Amino acid sequence: MSKPARKALVTTPFTDKSTLRANARRDIDKGAVTHTYSADRKTVIAKLNEALATEWVCVLRYYRHYFSASGMLADSVKAEFLEHAQQELAHANQIAERIVQLGGEPDLDPATLAARSHAEYKPGKDLRDMVKEDLVAERIAIDSYRELIDYVGDKDTTTKRMLEGILAQEEEHADEFADLLAGWIGD
Ligand SMILES: [Fe+2]
Ligand SMILES: [Fe+2]
Repeated sequence: MSKPARKALVTTPFTDKSTLRANARRDIDKGAVTHTYSADRKTVIAKLNEALATEWVCVLRYYRHYFSASGMLADSVKAEFLEHAQQELAHANQIAERIVQLGGEPDLDPATLAARSHAEYKPGKDLRDMVKEDLVAERIAIDSYRELIDYVGDKDTTTKRMLEGILAQEEEHADEFADLLAGWIGD
């Protein structure tokens, strides 16, 4: 009689149902954050809070530029400032929401906002200077978002996906202002 074939050991990358159920019941107060969350949550929250401060400083700077822009080109550029202010606010809100999902607290303390922001609040001397300062701020945001995306990697894909969406919009903002400056006529 031939020997019965040895049964191959079945390995699976998936957790069985009863373990999944038991894990889900542990630390239920942590909400969306489960034990498989493998990023450094505290660092991610801290970096998101820096991004939140940056977005708010950008909201305020864009509104400042929107309300004080004047001159020949002002009308079309004002529309850009306003649109960007609203989009930066939407970014800020997305980030604040994610901080809460991760079990953190969004820091919106106005007393420390400017110091915690990567970008600066620059009122600008004239319309062209405003656009230049906004381009600089967008470029700062692009670099810091790219760095954070690399840091988060595939350990927190929800945060990564959110940041990638924001980064794409900051790149659009920067591109619009770069085009505007390149074609600038007059002072
Ligand atoms: Fe933004
Ligand atoms: Fe932007």
